[in-house]
Amino acid sequence: MLGALLLLAFAAGRCAADVGDFTPCLQFFYRSWPPKGLAGTPICQRYYNQHHFATLYSRPRRSPWFSAYLYSVPTGKRPSASWKFEPQLAYPGADGNMVPFPPGPPDQNVVESQAVDLDYINSTYSRGHLNPSLHHQRYQARSATFTLTNVVPQKVGSNDGPWELLEQNVNKTLAAYCLGKAYMVTGVIPYRGDEHWLKNHRVAVPEYLWSTYCCPNYNHSLPNWLSNTFPTYAAIGRNDPNSTEEIVPVNKTAKKQYRGYDVRRMSLETLEMYLKDRFNTVVSVFYEQCVGSD
Ligand SMILES: *[C@@H]1O[C@H](CO)[C@@H](O)[C@H](O)[C@H]1NC(C)=O
Ligand SMILES: *[C@@H]1O[C@H](CO)[C@@H](O)[C@H](O)[C@H]1NC(C)=O
Ligand SMILES: *[C@@H]1O[C@H](CO)[C@@H](O)[C@H](O)[C@H]1NC(C)=O
Ligand SMILES: *[C@@H]1O[C@H](CO)[C@@H](O)[C@H](O)[C@H]1NC(C)=O
Ligand SMILES: *[C@@H]1O[C@H](CO)[C@@H](O)[C@H](O)[C@H]1NC(C)=O
Repeated sequence: MLGALLLLAFAAGRCAADVGDFTPCLQFFYRSWPPKGLAGTPICQRYYNQHHFATLYSRPRRSPWFSAYLYSVPTGKRPSASWKFEPQLAYPGADGNMVPFPPGPPDQNVVESQAVDLDYINSTYSRGHLNPSLHHQRYQARSATFTLTNVVPQKVGSNDGPWELLEQNVNKTLAAYCLGKAYMVTGVIPYRGDEHWLKNHRVAVPEYLWSTYCCPNYNHSLPNWLSNTFPTYAAIGRNDPNSTEEIVPVNKTAKKQYRGYDVRRMSLETLEMYLKDRFNTVVSVFYEQCVGSD
C-alpha cells in the first residue's frame, strides 16, 4: 500500500528526493563543506518538510558513516521514540521526508534498502544515535534524530556509559563557551578486515564511534581544563571490549558494565590520523581543520 502510494507520487513527478546530494542541506556543515574522504549516499534528513541534519549513509552496511548537525542548547525531555525510515532510499521518486514505521511488517523494498526495527530487536546491541536527541533545543529536531539511518549498533555499555557522558560533556562545554554556531560531526570506524554484523548479516557493527565539533566563535576566557578544546575538539569511543588498546586504552578499574567502552578525548588532528589509518585515505572532517576565523 505504502509502496503504491510512493510510486504514485513518483509518477506524479513530485519534487526530487533528499538523497544522493548534500546541496539542499549544506548549512549543517562548517563553511558548507561536507567531510572529504568517505564515500556513501548523502541524505538530507527531512522531517515535516524541514531539514534537520545531514547523514552520509552506507547502503551496503545499512547504517550511517556519519551524521552532521548544528548543536543547540537543549530544553525539555527526550521524546518517546517513534522510529522512522526513509522512503526515498526504497523509492527514488519519493519525497524526502522520514516516516514512522507503520504497524505490521514493513514494505519489502524498505526492508531491502535500510535497517528496520527487527534488525535491532533481540540483538545484543542498542540503537546508538550519531546525532543525539539531547543536542537539540526543539522538539521536532529531537524527534527527527529517531531515524534508523542516524543509528548504528552500539553496545549498551557504551551508549549508557562513557559515550553518553561524552555527549553530556560536549553539551555543557558548548552551552557555556561556544558563542556562535557549533558544527558537529559524529561517525563510525569500521573493523579492519572482517566486518561484524547484527544477526541476519544485514546491518554492520562499528568497532569505534568518533565525534568532533567546530565552534569558530567562542569565549576566549576558557578555564584551564578546556584550554585545548576550542575551536575544535574530538573523541573516539570503544564499542567492543575485545578491541586492542592502541587507539583507546581501557580503564581496568571502571565499573564492570562500562569496562572496555572507554572514550578518549583528542585533537581533531589525532582523530583524522586514526581515520586515515583505518580508511586508507585522507579524511578531512572540517574545512581547513576549523581554524579559519568566522
Ligand atoms: C525476542 O525474544 C523473545 C524472548 O526470547 C521472544 O519471545 C520474541 O518473540 C523475540 N522477538 C523477535 C521479534 O524475534
Ligand atoms: C545541557 O546543557 C544545558 C546547559 O548547561 C543544561 O541545562 C542541560 O541540563 C544539559 N543537558 C544534559 C542532558 O546534560
Ligand atoms: C566568557 O567567560 C567568562 C568566564 O567564564 C565570563 O565571565 C564572560 O561573561 C564570558 N563572556 C561571554 C561573552 O559569554
Ligand atoms: C569478545 O570475545 C569473546 C570471546 O571470544 C566473545 O564471546 C564475545 O562475543 C566478544 N565480544 C564482542 C563484543 O565481540
Ligand atoms: C577509571 O575508573 C575509575 C572508576 O570509575 C575512576 O575513578 C578513575 O578516575 C578512572 N581512571 C582513569 C585514568 O580515567
